[in-house]
Amino acid sequence: MPLKVAILVSGRGSNMASILEAIKEKRLDAQVSVVFSNNPEAPALSTARKFGVRTESLSHRGMSRREHEERVVEILSRYEFDFVVLAGYMRVLTPLFLEAFKSGSKKIPSEYKQLTLEPQLIVKTKAEGDVTATSFFRVINIHPSLLPAFPGAHAYEDAFNYGVRLSGITVHLVDEKVDHGAILAQETFVRLENDDLESFKARGLALEHKMLPQVLQDISRRGISILPFKRGDGSAEEVLSEAKAGRMPALPGSEAGEPPALPVPSAVSELAEASAISGSGAGEPTAQ
Ligand code: GRF
Repeated sequence: MPLKVAILVSGRGSNMASILEAIKEKRLDAQVSVVFSNNPEAPALSTARKFGVRTESLSHRGMSRREHEERVVEILSRYEFDFVVLAGYMRVLTPLFLEAFKSGSKKIPSEYKQLTLEPQLIVKTKAEGDVTATSFFRVINIHPSLLPAFPGAHAYEDAFNYGVRLSGITVHLVDEKVDHGAILAQETFVRLENDDLESFKARGLALEHKMLPQVLQDISRRGISILPFKRGDGSAEEVLSEAKAGRMPALPGSEAGEPPALPVPSAVSELAEASAISGSGAGEPTAQ
């Protein structure tokens, strides 16, 4: 059964198009039930129609946030889907909207019609085996930074202007806070020395277009998968128990024994050997 998604957009829709392309090319086993926009003029809508996808729109202008959200939920309830994908949807969603898409809830709040949001979702934890997910919202967002850094509507600009050397893309489950929620995937891209904002953004956007279909394909195959280390507190006890379970190198001097030697890139080890021979000392470790 293909994964069914509703995609919410506000503008250009290049991420939406990356999903539709991936479906067309059979890299993604999914079906887009509807594309919705809060901007009836969004170029994304005509792109979606070219792919033969149903579209809906309702401007938020002149309406309270609550009224708009209620009406969007009502519109979406006419379609069948498993996940809402926010692909450049420039509206903050409140719990009123999110509650309508709560996992495991077959019923949605009484003021709305019933939605069909069915498939079994699995949270995989390597430590405990598979457990059934109980509570999260079936809403996924893509954000162009390494969250929690640079949340908000201008993440590329903010990261670039800050002067980061490395940035990234985050795909995450949405919760009640803005640009927040369990991370499903996170990848980095570099800022090159002669980058301007445009070339920096273009490199990030190419990564977005690769990641979003991949994450959806993973969900379609395996359900929601949240790696256990993200939930951890990073405490010494946790690191030690992870090490005992063979998941990461032990801390030096811990009960789990010596950490395995880290691989040294060959160029570095050759340099170290050469400097040892010449006695220059250049290969010796220096204090930071
Ligand atoms: C993307 O950068 C996305 O990460 C952010 O908004 C932008 C939307 O671009 N949330 P597009 O409409 O998908 O081209």
